[in-house]
Amino acid sequence: MIRIPLCRLDEIPQVGARGFTVPTASGPLDLFVVRFDGLLRAYVNRCPHRGTPLDWEPDQFLDPDTGEIVCATHGARFQPADGACLGGPCRGRGLEPVAVELEAGTIWYREPPP
Ligand code: FES
Repeated sequence: MIRIPLCRLDEIPQVGARGFTVPTASGPLDLFVVRFDGLLRAYVNRCPHRGTPLDWEPDQFLDPDTGEIVCATHGARFQPADGACLGGPCRGRGLEPVAVELEAGTIWYREPPP
């Protein structure tokens, strides 16, 4: 199993997100980690509408008022807890989850088995 350290937990605000690119067997993978309500989730940084990155500036993935994940291109909205589409052009298509784990204060990417 391949694990790659991403960052320390305290490098992401208690409600916030951060983007990363990790090497995988199939090439570089752009992902982002979301921190909210004491939870961590991670998703591929690709909108299911047109496949563009979600952030409008580096590490800016969340609506500061609602905490929802927002696509910068056309405004699709996604639930941080499970990446489900909440509205907009995503039309029911959610974000692709990525496995991460927290160990001793460090967030790790875990590559799934082939
Ligand atoms: S590319 Fe994300 S809403 Fe269109």
